[in-house]
Amino acid sequence: MRPTLDQAALDLLFLQARTQNGWLPTPVDDDQLRRIYDIMKWGPTSANSCPARFVFLRTPAAKARLLPALSPGNVDKTKQAPVTAIIGYDTRFFEWMPKKLFAHRPDMADNYAKNPALTEIVAFRNGTLQGAYFMLAARAVGLDVGGMSGFDNAKVDAEFFPDGRVKSNFLCNLGHGEVTRMRTLMLALAAEKALNQKDFDVAAKHLGPRYTQHNPNAADGPEGLRAFLGFLEEKFPDSRSEIK
Ligand SMILES: Cc1cc2nc3c(=O)[nH]c(=O)nc-3n(C[C@H](O)[C@H](O)[C@H](O)COP(=O)(O)O)c2cc1C
Repeated sequence: MRPTLDQAALDLLFLQARTQNGWLPTPVDDDQLRRIYDIMKWGPTSANSCPARFVFLRTPAAKARLLPALSPGNVDKTKQAPVTAIIGYDTRFFEWMPKKLFAHRPDMADNYAKNPALTEIVAFRNGTLQGAYFMLAARAVGLDVGGMSGFDNAKVDAEFFPDGRVKSNFLCNLGHGEVTRMRTLMLALAAEKALNQKDFDVAAKHLGPRYTQHNPNAADGPEGLRAFLGFLEEKFPDSRSEIK
């Protein structure tokens, strides 16, 4: 029997790991970035094309080159993250096939060289796959990630890849997520579900057994909230609360 990942590993990669929007100042060193690359590069790509290319930005000066291209909602977290990766793809990835990546079939490179439309699709598809391997590899070495596609690709390409060979695909903040920020967002979501959608089951996932009410009309504990939401739904089905 092959070994399989245990619950802790599944939690780390998928089940408990969430996108982070706030970042602690804990640094990320070059060895961690190399480890990510050395793991993710083994993920499968068609004809071993390996078209993804990575640029890591960590200094304020490097980040300053990226910020004007970002959607407003992505600016603060990108400034805060210890490292932001630009995940791009090499439109001439096939040049590496005869030398290194697919040496037993050098003719494959000619096929791509003659067919730019196919080459673009292959580069984007496999570069995106490698971006996903990259995020999971980052989690595997103990980092949090925050992917971002909210930015102007043309601006990033002009600034970082002016010769046109590499094109940006998406961005990924890396580091240690600020859990309080995450928890605040989760609690805001839970409050919206409870008070406005009267959805006890979703809200209950965020309640401990010692949940204490501040509303004098509701009892303590999860069951108190369930009863209060039932009351609201029956008597005031259209009531709304603003969550700040
Ligand atoms: C390729 C990619 C692009 C994303 N773009 C953005 C973005 O521009 N801004 C943002 O706040 N979140 C962005 N996200 C985060 C997603 O919204 C998030 O992964 C999704 O809501 C699921 O949440 P979870 O990762 O915590 O499970 C992006 C995620 C990925 C993988």
